[in-house]
Amino acid sequence: MNPKEQLLARIRDHTAVVGVVGLGYVGLPFAVEKAKVGFRVLGVEQNPARADKVNRGENYISDVRDEELRDLVARGLIRADTDFAHVPEMDVIVICVPTPLTKNLTPDLSYVERVTREVARNLRRGQLVSLESTTYPGTTEEVMLPVLASSGLKVEVDFFLVHSPERVDPGNKRYTTKNTTKVVGGVGPESLDVALAFYGQTIERVVPVSSAKAAELVKVFENTFRAVNIALVNELALLCDRMGLNVWEVLDAAFTKPFGIMPFWPGPGVGGHCIPLDPHYLEWKAKELNFNTHFIALAGEINRRMPEFVRDKAIRVLNRLGVAPSQARILVLGAAYKRDLADHRESPAVEVIRLLREYGADVVYHDPYVPTLHDEGVDLDSIPLTVDELQKSDLVVITTDHTSVDYGFVVAHARHVLDTRNATRGVAAGRDRITLL
Ligand SMILES: NC(=O)c1ccc[n+]([C@@H]2O[C@H](COP(=O)([O-])OP(=O)(O)OC[C@H]3O[C@@H](n4cnc5c(N)ncnc54)[C@H](O)[C@@H]3O)[C@@H](O)[C@H]2O)c1
Repeated sequence: MNPKEQLLARIRDHTAVVGVVGLGYVGLPFAVEKAKVGFRVLGVEQNPARADKVNRGENYISDVRDEELRDLVARGLIRADTDFAHVPEMDVIVICVPTPLTKNLTPDLSYVERVTREVARNLRRGQLVSLESTTYPGTTEEVMLPVLASSGLKVEVDFFLVHSPERVDPGNKRYTTKNTTKVVGGVGPESLDVALAFYGQTIERVVPVSSAKAAELVKVFENTFRAVNIALVNELALLCDRMGLNVWEVLDAAFTKPFGIMPFWPGPGVGGHCIPLDPHYLEWKAKELNFNTHFIALAGEINRRMPEFVRDKAIRVLNRLGVAPSQARILVLGAAYKRDLADHRESPAVEVIRLLREYGADVVYHDPYVPTLHDEGVDLDSIPLTVDELQKSDLVVITTDHTSVDYGFVVAHARHVLDTRNATRGVAAGRDRITLL
């Protein structure tokens, strides 16, 4: 049997060893999904605290079920290391490391590059390498392939290389790794074949595209689509503010149309590791071709300005209440970028806190999922959400609509609430003390 046939046989009978590099929001749920159907999973996680946790069967990612991870680790199906020594044991190597932006909004591929070098050093015949990190079109073929090929092994013959973007939506109970359709593009047809067989073992629907580059573009386009549409409703919110209209009422009514429209909601800005970052990967790549992606630039500008709008609206409310911003105590409700998650990367709430503090306000926060916040110069502990804390505050600014918070209780005891998420939608009493975004 040639290397491809051998690998396919191991994939089909689940004796293939699956390596997952980067055990974060993407990598750990993926590792669990593979181990659940009997694949032995070897994780590589540079953070020793995370690797230790995995080896003790302790979960730290909300989309993973504690008992599931514990059981799989106890059965010897998942193990994590901090180095790449075990790469030769792996038949498939799935890379899920961060792809952040630099301060100048250009791609920072250093994580992908470092991992590729480590994998290349340990590469052997008969391995499939799949990049799942979101990135610009061309990364797999132009950045990774030359490094892997420097091992002396030949792609499409000795080893196989694909891009298969991860689409996980953290916190989404309906769509998980297993039932979210997966897109795969190979650097050649042999790589694609192997990857289709691999992903098809655990994922309900796998869609092939003609190249790794096309798969890379699919993912950045999807996130650009979200960023642009969120920017559109954010812009509508700014306009409604000028017109004295309620943007939530307008959108609720607009989304009753059964075709040709899709719900997106305004808010204090966009956060997380995807929407604020990924479109700029595409923007950067397009510039290389002397092409300007106008929608991406505009959406980024509008979304990034939302925290300032929230700050300005908070100041207007405080003025109406007769409180000078510099004398105000403001309780920011929610630090996570998204409902029911602990993730505060790029969270607009952090920016709102920072901007309100610039006016001299005493800003505190509560988030049931984020006990402490050390981010962008903000160093705070979450305070308890009590009657006393609510009454002591001149203004409560709702920045994340966690479902476990009792918004009726918040409105009942707060002097005034600025609600940037329409979290108080179901609260009937005290509406005169609520200002919506
Ligand atoms: N979080 C999401 O919702 C989401 C969804 C789809 C795609 N993605 C993409 O997936 C990728 C990973 O995102 P994430 O949210 O899982 O990130 P994360 O920060 O949660 O996890 C990445 C992990 O990789 C580890 N790591 C970094 N460098 C490493 C190295 N050299 N060797 C081994 N481990 C290393 C980090 O310690 C971390 O635990 C990114 O490209 C992201 O854009 C994320």
